[in-house]
Amino acid sequence: MHLGVCYYPEHWPEDWWADDARRMAEMGISRVRIGEFAWSRIEPEPGRFDWGWLDRAIDTLARHGLDVILCTPTATPPKWLVDAMPDMIALDVAGQPRRFGSRRHYCFSHRGYRREAARITAEIAERYGAHPAVIAWQTDNEYGCHDTALSYSAAAATEFRHWLARHHTDIDTLNRAWGNVFWSMEYRSFAEIGLPNLTVTEPNPAHVLDFQRFASDEVVAFNRAQVEILRARSPGRDIVHNFMGFFTQFDHHAVSRDLDVAGWDSYPLGFLEQFWFPVADKLRYARTGHPDIAAFHHDLYRGCSNGRWWVMEQQPGPVNWAGFNPAPLPGMVRLWTLEAMAHGAELVSYFRWRQAPFGQEQMHTGLLRPNCSDDVGAQEVGGVAAEIARLATAGAAPQPVALVFSYAADWVFGTQPQGRSVRYLELAFAMYSALRQLGFDIDIVAPDADLSGYALVVVPSLPMIDAATVDRLAALACPVLLGPRTGSKTADFAIPAILPPGPLQAHLPLRIVRVESLRDGLVHPGDGFVVSRWLEHVETALPAEISLDDGRGIVFAKGNLRYLAAWPDAALLARLFTTMAADAGLAVTPLPADLRLRRAGDRVFAFNFGPDPIDLGLWLPGAAARDYLLGGADLPPAGVSVWTTQ
Ligand code: GAL
Repeated sequence: MHLGVCYYPEHWPEDWWADDARRMAEMGISRVRIGEFAWSRIEPEPGRFDWGWLDRAIDTLARHGLDVILCTPTATPPKWLVDAMPDMIALDVAGQPRRFGSRRHYCFSHRGYRREAARITAEIAERYGAHPAVIAWQTDNEYGCHDTALSYSAAAATEFRHWLARHHTDIDTLNRAWGNVFWSMEYRSFAEIGLPNLTVTEPNPAHVLDFQRFASDEVVAFNRAQVEILRARSPGRDIVHNFMGFFTQFDHHAVSRDLDVAGWDSYPLGFLEQFWFPVADKLRYARTGHPDIAAFHHDLYRGCSNGRWWVMEQQPGPVNWAGFNPAPLPGMVRLWTLEAMAHGAELVSYFRWRQAPFGQEQMHTGLLRPNCSDDVGAQEVGGVAAEIARLATAGAAPQPVALVFSYAADWVFGTQPQGRSVRYLELAFAMYSALRQLGFDIDIVAPDADLSGYALVVVPSLPMIDAATVDRLAALACPVLLGPRTGSKTADFAIPAILPPGPLQAHLPLRIVRVESLRDGLVHPGDGFVVSRWLEHVETALPAEISLDDGRGIVFAKGNLRYLAAWPDAALLARLFTTMAADAGLAVTPLPADLRLRRAGDRVFAFNFGPDPIDLGLWLPGAAARDYLLGGADLPPAGVSVWTTQ
């Protein structure tokens, strides 16, 4: 595994560059990502290029033995371009322009901007495509960041109408598919259709979902245009994009099909603070991150591009963008790095080399402080580089469990949540977390992935599941869990004529006759668990495998398939997965809340995310006696232990 860093030579005096490069190399860093926000320095005026500084920056890095990951600068179109093409600006859902003055102000659908993005990509690829130090390209930066995947601009409206005309045979078909007879929403032509925002009350969910599908396709096309240019002008180089955490506004599986490597930006403390976690977790893991946050994304993005994935940005200290920005516990930068290694990363690249004393992110730490002295991150990177060299390669993990992740499922839940706390991503994460607490290694895979090698398959939900997918799941030799709302909608966002779970009924004879969402505190107890948020009323002749205290069944099984008709808590998930593991002949290793394991080849990695030391001997047989490659049986907070299974 390589270590890397995100570097902005354009932010620093040129006479600092050589020293920076020397220190990077000394620290064990071998790859440097540059250029993603440098358009105004590369092309200060339309058609006038200033390559000199970038030539010298790349050569300086190369002279110190550093490889370069060069980025296309399309996330930050410069002022002159925006002024020349004002309608390239994205509009938010409230119709407000996303004005120049920060970044990501472009609309994915603006064809003029697409041409400009292609032009600057071609210029950069032409100049550096054959440079021996340039070993990889990153397209743009964090598609969708700052809520920018969906734009409600005139350009988006035009392209959306074209998309609709391609996806629906004619306007009558569209009217029927969307159910536009409801509230007199019928259109006479595609030209009459607008965007699903600024309506009096909620827009038609079928309209919303088609717009989401369209917006996702626009991101795929925007990225593909750059990839094609880079492949032609810079053959043999890896192409990567840096995806985000807990972000579902476009189909990352689809974008990744055009990439060589899926990258992602790992900010465990920022994500814990920003997302749905209960306050108790936000406090307990404030300085370590929830034990499953980084791992969930490692496994998700590993599944996006055939196993090749990089951490493009790793949190090095306090960030600037969450509600609260605490410092990681000493040792966490090391832990996150080794954790990525355990999950099979080829690269961990820290964001950023040196804290900038100016601009929006001046409160965001780097490995170095603004005065060039080492910050805590730099010290940890130096140490972990030696440990990585000692561990050499981690090896591939066995793959007992697959969790099927669907971006489209997230869009369906989001389009019609039916209850404020009913969120697909959270359900998928809860299932992932429960599996990890039983000690499993998990692959997170796309709905069309080959599932035949797995011992256990978990499908948090697939609301628009089709008959072929149901047959494929029923034909597997292993137990499969299907979560709530599976089969609850047709592809056109209607309730199936035979009622949910739609095509699943062919193998699991049950019908969902009513669903209800539950506010916080309104819960239904069962034996050792409670159901909250969401409950389905089931009619079936099948006996319930698990019921609520009031006698209503919530888990039903037939053959290898199991259906969960409620929102589970951790106890219910542990019980379900333990039963399924027993069916599959898989051993479970129940772990305490703060401990996680990850196997990689014949290595086992253990990580402590909690505030207290963990005695591995209490949880893992033989732990006290074995030899450790790193650490030992006493795992301190932020500690990592590694051993071999032989
Ligand atoms: C990422 C982004 C970087 C930087 C970083 C700060 O989302 O890609 O450019 O803003 O966050 O944590």
